[in-house]
Amino acid sequence: MSVYPDQTGKVTLAALAQRKRRGEKISMLTAYDYPTALLVDGAGLDIVLVGDSLGMEELGLDTTLPVTMDIMIHHTQAVRRGTRRALLVADMPFLSYQVNADEAVRNAGRLLQEAGAEAVKLEGGAAIASTIRRLVQAGIPVMAHIGFTPQSVHQIGLRKQGKDEAGARQVRDDALAVQEAGAFAVVLELIPNDLAAQITHSLAIPTVGIGAGPGCDGQVLVTSDLLGLRPDRAPLKHVRRYAQVGEDIARALRAYKEEVENGSFP
Ligand code: KIV
Repeated sequence: MSVYPDQTGKVTLAALAQRKRRGEKISMLTAYDYPTALLVDGAGLDIVLVGDSLGMEELGLDTTLPVTMDIMIHHTQAVRRGTRRALLVADMPFLSYQVNADEAVRNAGRLLQEAGAEAVKLEGGAAIASTIRRLVQAGIPVMAHIGFTPQSVHQIGLRKQGKDEAGARQVRDDALAVQEAGAFAVVLELIPNDLAAQITHSLAIPTVGIGAGPGCDGQVLVTSDLLGLRPDRAPLKHVRRYAQVGEDIARALRAYKEEVENGSFP
């Protein structure tokens, strides 16, 4: 499938930049497998993210830290097969880009070459800007991710970032640094709404918020959260549940078991 702008409505970096200029919102959701990719892409979302949140959502891990390149490639390949129109972004997992820029280019290259991603996302601001620049110079589109960065959870804790003046300055500096380094967009996770709106206003590239309020250029959620898929977890504060799919599935499974046991199926 061509990734160049054409009449099919394929979402490209240029299309996302245009949406920012026109003040049109950008929608993004996660997918980790083929059926979810078909549904998310089919619903017309602009960006499908193979997030390393798959460690928790798909594999039952406690954090994203154990997710490896091979796991990301495996899931991105499946999502690729189900994604036609949306821009396909894959997360770079922990330690795939932090060691040095050469490793980052090689690993990001694998996500494009072996898995069919069209862009990569990586966590960090000013500290990782030179790596973003190297990736962009290699022709690899980069979405940045600042504010709360889950791969640093043991360092920063699971909490909102940028709440005091020094923290807010850091997030603002990070946003400018990743734009300057060539990122085509930036995820703002768990920062105060007014800070996210301020950053969105000051940047030329689109911001995509999660737990960052309505002032961002776009929004992203973890699909299993908005679908209410997981029976083992209450929704986080920033999540809106659009369905209770977990309950529907549990009801169907109980009905099947009952009908097998009472002989009404088959
Ligand atoms: O891994 C992920 O799903 C993410 C989103 C929450 C932005 O990074």
